[in-house]
Amino acid sequence: MVAGAGGMVGRAVLEHCTAQGDEVSAHDHSSLDIADEKAVSSVIDGERPQVIINCAAWTDVDGCETDRVRAFEANAKGPENLAKSARRVQAGLVTISTDYVFDGAKDGFYTQRDDPNPTSVYGASKLEGERLAQAACARTVVVRTGWIFGSGGRNFLSRVIELSLHNEHLKAISDAWGTPTYAADLARRLRQLAELDLPGIYHVVNSGDGASYEEFAREALKSAGREKAMIESVRSDSLRRPAPRPRNSRLRCLVSEAIGLERLPDWRLALKEFAEKAGTIA
Ligand SMILES: NC(=O)c1ccc[n+]([C@@H]2O[C@H](COP(=O)([O-])OP(=O)(O)OC[C@H]3O[C@@H](n4cnc5c(N)ncnc54)[C@H](OP(=O)(O)O)[C@@H]3O)[C@@H](O)[C@H]2O)c1
Repeated sequence: MVAGAGGMVGRAVLEHCTAQGDEVSAHDHSSLDIADEKAVSSVIDGERPQVIINCAAWTDVDGCETDRVRAFEANAKGPENLAKSARRVQAGLVTISTDYVFDGAKDGFYTQRDDPNPTSVYGASKLEGERLAQAACARTVVVRTGWIFGSGGRNFLSRVIELSLHNEHLKAISDAWGTPTYAADLARRLRQLAELDLPGIYHVVNSGDGASYEEFAREALKSAGREKAMIESVRSDSLRRPAPRPRNSRLRCLVSEAIGLERLPDWRLALKEFAEKAGTIA
């Protein structure tokens, strides 16, 4: 069962699992609000899935900053509701979290040995979701990821391409770093982790050294054949957004390395693959 199936990652998971021949029950926000405990119980008791992959979240980072209640309902209570029901029907649960659980003060890559310390309401609500889900169901797999690009949904990459197509001025932050992640690669790994059924916290991102938003934007425009688009390099503090973001949120997964999971492709290759597949962004 996929919750949040209408979002960018939800769609990628649905596409991948269906292609693998899985019998998938997909719920978007309109068919299942994960913050509604009764609705979650009723759907899960009725369907009795083997595994639940939770891709639902309120991902508007600035919106969360001004509506804490809604953020915690969707991002903390939601995963807990799914976990309680998963436990009752003995299903596995894979739930997605974020690199924004870290404060960004560290240089280098964040691993499972680093203590989370979110600086935004979004990050705090997602961290609470991790904890509540793990407490409610021992079979919970938490997958932290970051800087996702793919089809559908509004993300940094789609915005960059859209602005460049309209010859609009592009501003990209040069002093914040993360690990870009292709939704299709993430979907593959989510299914693999569901099959593995080894509870814990995983960091799932494409490999490579990570990037600043500016590097990510330049590479994206190159893949889309629009390298001539003008990019103005700006500093994070010039944007005055309601929610603080980590300066560095690059991730590395000690667990995947220890158990020998293959690294996901370099994000630059993944970006090329996405551009070729999408066709439209060129
Ligand atoms: N995008 C990134 O760069 C990024 C980075 C790190 C982690 N993540 C995590 O990755 C996961 C997938 O995110 P995404 O990028 O696919 O975001 P997305 O495109 O915004 O998808 C999230 C989906 O969840 C739905 N949703 C929101 N509240 C819900 C609720 N209470 N019940 C059921 N569905 C609800 C949304 O529906 P509506 O739009 O109709 O409300 C939306 O379709 C999330 O856990 C997110 O926190 C994303």
